[in-house]
Amino acid sequence: MLSTTGFSTDSKFDYDSVICGALLHDIGKYVEVIPDQNGAPRYSPRAKLIRHPLGGAILAAEYGFPDKIVHIIATHSFEGEHSFQTAESQFVKKIDDLVFQTSVYGIPLTT
Ligand SMILES: [Fe+2]
Repeated sequence: MLSTTGFSTDSKFDYDSVICGALLHDIGKYVEVIPDQNGAPRYSPRAKLIRHPLGGAILAAEYGFPDKIVHIIATHSFEGEHSFQTAESQFVKKIDDLVFQTSVYGIPLTT
């Protein structure tokens, strides 16, 4: 049997949650970063207290997303390093970290 994303549902690994969580993992950036008077992005005052993983998790929960998606959002950054991780949240966290390491830190990709 195939899931809505076309992956096999025979595995216990929840591909649909991974895709949904991956798409939404940075949704908290929309409350963490706000435009200044000139439209340039800047961190909101709230960002010092609530980083985007927590802000995004709160937002997702308020909009009724399942706890497994809220968990992926909440634990995708260093906030999740000492937290319980599902296989799906660990997968999204590792891919996000890989993208961060290669794009923000500029570690060259090997071809
Ligand atoms: Fe993030």
